[in-house]
Amino acid sequence: MKPHIAVVGSINMDLVFRTPRIPAAGETLTGHSFHQIQGGKGANQAVAAARMGAELSFVACVGDDGFGTSSLRALEQDGIATNTIRQVTQCATGVAGILLDDAGQNRIVLAPGANAQLNKVDIDAAIHTLTQAQLLVCQLESPLDTVLYAIDCAKNAGLAVLLNPAPAQALEDKVLAQVDYLVLNETEASFLSGQTVTDGASAQSAAEVLQQRGANVVVITMGALGVLVAEKGNASLAYLLPAYAVNVVDTTGAGDTFVGALAVAIAEAQELRAASMFAQSAAALAVTQLGAQTSIPHRKAVEALRNSVITL
Ligand code: RIB
Repeated sequence: MKPHIAVVGSINMDLVFRTPRIPAAGETLTGHSFHQIQGGKGANQAVAAARMGAELSFVACVGDDGFGTSSLRALEQDGIATNTIRQVTQCATGVAGILLDDAGQNRIVLAPGANAQLNKVDIDAAIHTLTQAQLLVCQLESPLDTVLYAIDCAKNAGLAVLLNPAPAQALEDKVLAQVDYLVLNETEASFLSGQTVTDGASAQSAAEVLQQRGANVVVITMGALGVLVAEKGNASLAYLLPAYAVNVVDTTGAGDTFVGALAVAIAEAQELRAASMFAQSAAALAVTQLGAQTSIPHRKAVEALRNSVITL
């Protein structure tokens, strides 16, 4: 049987400018190229989970513009049902303006558009399919009260909850206590823990703070520095998985790819270390390609990369 993942989150159209460097204030800079690519953390994570072989229940909002319609069509091409995605009338689809420099680093500005309209009624309307899933995945590009409501519904129905608190915002301890898997990058971990994360040791300290605040499993993704996985309750259950050495083209969506792949591996009852390695393999492939959903690999490629490391 396919793993079944529920995602409550955002859909954006990414407007990507490839540029030699980030322009200074007041400067006009000619870039290399422009690309319009499907994105949004919720959609990226749903697509990643679908490409890893999961069945998806995805609750989101788009506008009644061309970006919204093309986002729905793209999700359908990945086998994701769109009947729980509301097309909000007289509203723009979420847009992300992305500057991508020659080092593969990005700067993103969001205009939430229809994502800001996602509400509890949308969750209630989809509750039957949401609660059929094994795991709920959320991020913070949607209104916080809607995300917290979805988490409450999931816990009441016995689902595990994976929260990717991105973009970072303050969360109460009682929210962290509802999260089975808190998956975040070093910036978000620094913000939520008050500990600056720069390496494996500082990531472990941050994970301990987050666990003292109530989180269960904490996974901190740190790009080339690897991934810190902290299981609950025992310092010896924290370990750093080194990063793959890959040619970085664009990091956009790599964290989302990690989340989607990790969710599927957890739903398949893979042991956490193996699940994290699987997710890391998926993210490593994602950074080698331009864009968010254009870079998310399919399962066969992810398994091939992971197996090449395991058999070394
Ligand atoms: O995490 C990457 C995503 O962040 C992009 O696709 C962009 O839409 C923003 O939401």
